Amino acid sequence: MNAPAERRRSLHGEWTSRLGFILALAGSAVGLGNIWRFPYLAGENGGGAFVLVYLVCVFAIGLPIMMSEVLIGRRGRRNPVRTMALLGEEESGTRAWGLVGLLGVFTGFLILSFYSVIGGWTVAYIVEAASGAFVSAGSEQVSQVFSDIVSRPLVAGTWHTVFMILTIGVVVLGVEQGLERAVRVLVPALVALLLVLLGYSMTTGRFLDGLVFLFEPRFEDLTGASVLAALGQAFFSLSVGMGAVMTYGAYLKDEESIPRSTVAVVLSDTSIALLSALVIFPIAFAHGLDPAAGPGLAFQSLPLAFGQMPGGVVVATLFFLLLSFAAWTSAISILEPAVAFVMETWNWTRPKAAIVVGAIIWAFGFATVMSFGPWSDIQFWRGTFFDNIDHLSNNIFLPIGGLVIVIFAGWVMARNSTADELDPQAGWGYRLWRFSARYVAPIAVTAMLLSYGFGLF
Ligand code: TRP
Repeated sequence: MNAPAERRRSLHGEWTSRLGFILALAGSAVGLGNIWRFPYLAGENGGGAFVLVYLVCVFAIGLPIMMSEVLIGRRGRRNPVRTMALLGEEESGTRAWGLVGLLGVFTGFLILSFYSVIGGWTVAYIVEAASGAFVSAGSEQVSQVFSDIVSRPLVAGTWHTVFMILTIGVVVLGVEQGLERAVRVLVPALVALLLVLLGYSMTTGRFLDGLVFLFEPRFEDLTGASVLAALGQAFFSLSVGMGAVMTYGAYLKDEESIPRSTVAVVLSDTSIALLSALVIFPIAFAHGLDPAAGPGLAFQSLPLAFGQMPGGVVVATLFFLLLSFAAWTSAISILEPAVAFVMETWNWTRPKAAIVVGAIIWAFGFATVMSFGPWSDIQFWRGTFFDNIDHLSNNIFLPIGGLVIVIFAGWVMARNSTADELDPQAGWGYRLWRFSARYVAPIAVTAMLLSYGFGLF
């Protein structure tokens, strides 16, 4: 690769193995978004049509934005705020582009505050599964277990605290240690268990109904809000729009291929989301659970399957252990940009930055804890406090962040700069990326945000 002589070095180390970056990026992408959030959104938004819009958003918008984030990150090699300011100055003479980095840091703050609460639920479920709480359980019993955790602030708050401490712990250690190795085992193991569960869901007798629900588009179910929800979910699941991928790109070696790694990650992430939904819906249908049950869907349907299958206690315990790990590796990537920002801006040490930023997010997370418990009646705008943070960060801020990032990569950066990172020969793949980055993604995201905005007011 004809890298320019003045290439910057990463301030926080680099991914060590060849696969390290792909694994770390997959670890970021694969998480609660695939197994918890995608199925319940598909359920709430009527299935097929939502899934179709989601897939289009992932490949036509999410993938080019992911490539843009990685290339910007690697070129800038700083935290998202400074990287955007630095490249902004280089490419267009203004550091104002750093503002999108700030929006990203703020968005990550909001996302992690609820992500850690749901991550806490999954850790709590390891204990429930191991103690045999789901053995031969019916839907009522399973729902009881769920509400005993989420509606009690002391219980949910404790697990949220545990999850946050684990997340801060890894960020304190830095990106090279632990993270790569953990993901290498984790993602394949999670897929293996999902395949076991798929086997079970095929025996429920409702597998075909699940398949039809997921893949038969009924466009009458599609509203402006559900199109925006599909867009937001594409951003959320791919971890794009807030600088997390940009931060990981900053630690990527110069010689690694960005197109190849990002395509691999997007394909795995999407397959895992579809697989989870294919597991969850047949189980839900077979047990009379509402597919539009909301955030409790995965937590109330999967235990029913575990309760019925031989060796269910072991499989369930392992599953929630793996899901907690997957959530953990994602949470790390949400915290890292803010920590890198604070370290570089105020010259703090990594431990100090991780602990202080993490503690603030942890405290804010109690708003989400309460919104599933005593505050569940406090509803405004989109619903509970959680619903509002979730909507604002995922459906509004991530798309805005991604829009600015892709416009920067497609229109502001010189063709030479982006080709240099993506493909110095500028082959058809590069041209396809550039076309999406200049036209498809910006126009589609703007259209969705505007049409939703006008529908609202
Ligand atoms: N993609 C992760 C998931 O699906 C969540 C996540 C990690 C994320 N990093 C992010 C979401 C950055 C938005 C932005 O669970």
